[in-house]
Formats: sequence, structure tokens, C-alpha cells
Amino acid sequence: MSHTRVSLCELPHLRTRHLTQIGGLMRPGTHRSPLLEFGKRFVISPPGFPTMLVTHDMDDVRELFANHDDFSIGQVLSRFSSHDMMFGKQTLIFLDGDEHRRERRLFAPPFQSKALRSYEDLMVEVVQRELPRWPIGEPFEFLKVGYDLAIGVLLGIVFGDVAPVRRDRLKQAVIRWFGEIESRGFLAVTLITPLIGGYTLPYPPLRRRQSEVDAVVIEEITARRAAPSDGHDPKDVLSRYVGTELDQHDDAALARNMRGILLGAYETTAITLGWIAAMLAGHPAAVAELDAAADACDRARLDAYLDAVVAETMRLRPVSPFTGRRALRNTVINGVHIPKGAIVIVPILLIHESPQHYQDPMVFRPERFLGERPNGQTWLTFGAGSHRCLGAQFALAEARILFRTVLEHRRIHTASGPIEPPRRYHTGLSPADNARITLLRR
Ligand code: HEM
Repeated sequence: MSHTRVSLCELPHLRTRHLTQIGGLMRPGTHRSPLLEFGKRFVISPPGFPTMLVTHDMDDVRELFANHDDFSIGQVLSRFSSHDMMFGKQTLIFLDGDEHRRERRLFAPPFQSKALRSYEDLMVEVVQRELPRWPIGEPFEFLKVGYDLAIGVLLGIVFGDVAPVRRDRLKQAVIRWFGEIESRGFLAVTLITPLIGGYTLPYPPLRRRQSEVDAVVIEEITARRAAPSDGHDPKDVLSRYVGTELDQHDDAALARNMRGILLGAYETTAITLGWIAAMLAGHPAAVAELDAAADACDRARLDAYLDAVVAETMRLRPVSPFTGRRALRNTVINGVHIPKGAIVIVPILLIHESPQHYQDPMVFRPERFLGERPNGQTWLTFGAGSHRCLGAQFALAEARILFRTVLEHRRIHTASGPIEPPRRYHTGLSPADNARITLLRR
């Protein structure tokens, strides 16, 4: 840990010609980035943007994530993306300090281990329902399957047994809303936002779609309140919230937060499922190990190796290749003065690809995580600190259960070769060819 104080002006500054190279830190192969010449910390201050410190000094990163009170993630999202319009500024990720701590404690229980066990049957059912529709013996896009699985699981777990009058309306409203988020019009709004000081242009079609979702959710909240779960343990997320301290917010706020959970969980999970399929299809040895476990009906071995595959895929293809925090006041991390308003960026993918943290970092080797949890300081797919992904345990369990169920019924056809290149999805990485794989009967 450094004891000498430095200010941002004393650190290497990128010149305009280097700015185009920033993209290289967001794609696999970060070790080829010429920016590495600048060392572990460098500063970017393009005109019209806040000053940004990019750091992969692990002491900086540790101190940044440990500091809950002086930094905000919501302010980074508002400055560079249209997340505030998508999520709503009152949702968890936009809150800071004590308010965030209080709300997070209320939202967390349905995503902790005890609750997670109760979701497993539904996850298995969703795969069994979808599986007969997938082609056998010919290539198809697993990313699309990932989206279907993610939405099936989410609607079932977040909303549970929605009254039949609302079930289909809710699903259709959610699908239309997600469709609007992916529309060209809204993508254009997202791209313009950082260039106009973080102001997100009004986009009425998205508002309309959000209101449709909220209207059904509010009806459902009212119905659940009128008929509580008669002493049974509620299984779904919404029922776990109704009647708690969270429910003292107005209904619109609870509905908005439910929407925030759906949004945070949907794309990230679908894309990760796509990457796992793409990685497996390109790595015969990993699939041979999974097949051996599935053929022997050895579920413990299958689960252990799948956990390792999921962790290794998320190391090499984190949906978000970086995260960041904006200083709410003048502060210091690991001896570096961070002025109020400056942004600290943590290049997650660069850290994941560093030989200092992983041997042969560019090699897909699930064994490195076999029987060992990823190290929370150098494996940052879900971020870290007080804003670490609320659904991390949920997402890991979901990936394991969904793939276990697939592999108990199907084999993945493999061929060694390069893994699909990534395509930029909003700020994230998604498989460019939609994760084309071939499944065979087991
Ligand atoms: C593979 C799937 C997922 C990935 C890669 C992912 C990634 C992330 C990342 C990078 C963050 C920001 C963390 C930081 O910068 O420290 C985050 C926050 C968050 N995620 Fe996820 N996420 C995933 C799934 C989910 C799921 C399934 C849920 C809900 C069920 C969820 C809900 C949230 C929430 C509520 C936050 C904000 C937490 C806070 O501000 O306290 N995510 N996620």
C-alpha cells in the first residue's frame, strides 16, 4: 500500500490519439493494449468529460470498493449511459450511502442462499419445457435460447403464480419493454447520452412500455396484499416483499424496483448463458469431463465442474468489461487524491486477463476454479464492495442448474478452434454469432 500522496495531475495522462485505444480494454486480448505502457494507473480527461482515473493497481481497486461513502456507481451510469431512464433514478443501483445500505438490506433476502434452494425446481421445469423446441443435430443460436430461459426463470421466480388474468399480459408487456430497450431508436439515445453531458433525451416509447409493465405489476401487488400467502412461505420474490418494510413505499416505487431487478437480471444472464455454450462448444476436453459426469449420473461431479466452467467463462467474458465509481466529494484512495466529480474506472477484463492473477490467463481452463471459489478481489464479473451484484449467487446457481439440466438430456457437439468474437452490446460483450452450437441426443 502506498503512503505517498499523489494527485491525478502527477499521473500519466492519455493524449487524444490514445483515446481510440480505450476500446481495446473492453475486448478480449487486453494484454495487447498499447495503454499498458502507461503502467497501472493513467488518467483520461477528454474535453467535456469528467476526469477519469483508470487503475488496475489492486490496492487502489480494493480501497475503492471498500469505500462506500465517498463514491457512487449510479452517477457513473447516469453520466455514460441511459441506465437512469431504463432503471429509474430511485432504484437500488442509483442510491448511495445510508439510503443504499438500508434499501439493499431490504431487497437482499430473496437472493440469499436459503431462498435460492427453493427456486431450483422452477429452473429445471423451464429447461424441460423449452428443450423439445431446440433442434437436434443442426446448429442453432444458443443466445436466443439463453434469452428464453432467462425470461422464463425470471418471470416464474420474481412474480411466481401471477393470477391467470394478468399472466399473459405481464409476459407480453415485459417482452415489448425489453424489445423497446433493444430498438435502434433507444440505442441511438444511449449512444448520444455521454456526448451531451449525461443528459438522456426523452424517449416516450420506452416510457409507455415501462408504464404498461408497471400497471400490471401494481395490479398484482394489490391482489397479493388482499390475499396474503396464508401462512405458507412465499416462494417468489414479489410475495417476499409484499407486506414487508419495502411495501411501505408507494406501489409505483415497488413496481419500479421489480422492473429494475428484471432488467438487471435479464440481459446479463442471457448473454452469460450464450457465452457458456460458445465456450463449451470450442473446448472438447471440458465437454468430455461434463459428459463423463452426466453419463455416470454423478450429479456432484457434474455440478462441481459446471461451477468451474461458469466461473472460467465469466472470467474470460464478463458481460461488463469494466465498472466505475464517481467521487461524491474530495477523497483519497491508496494515496491518490480523487477530486469530487472525478471517476475511477476498474478495467475488469484487463484484471481477469492479467498473468499476475491467473496463470496462462488467455487459456480456458475451468480446472483453475475446481473446488475453489473465485477470489473476490481478482474475479470481478459481479463487481465488488457494497454495490456488488445483488443477484450474483442467484445467477451462478441458475447457470449451473440450467446447464446441468440441458446436459442430462443433450450432448454439446464440440470442435476445437477459435471462440466466437464478441460484439458490443450497449456497454457489454455478447457473442457475435449468437453462440451457434449443435446439440445431440444423450
Ligand atoms: C450473469 C449475470 C449477471 C452479471 C454479469 C451481473 C453484473 C452486475 C454488475 C457488474 C453489477 C455492478 C457491480 C459493481 O460495479 O460493483 C451489478 C449490480 C446489480 N445487479 Fe447484477 N449481474 C447479473 C445478474 C443479476 C441478477 C440475476 C440480478 C437479480 C436477480 C441482478 C441484480 C443486480 C442489482 C440489483 C445490482 C445493483 C446492486 C446495488 O447497487 O447494490 N444482477 N450486476
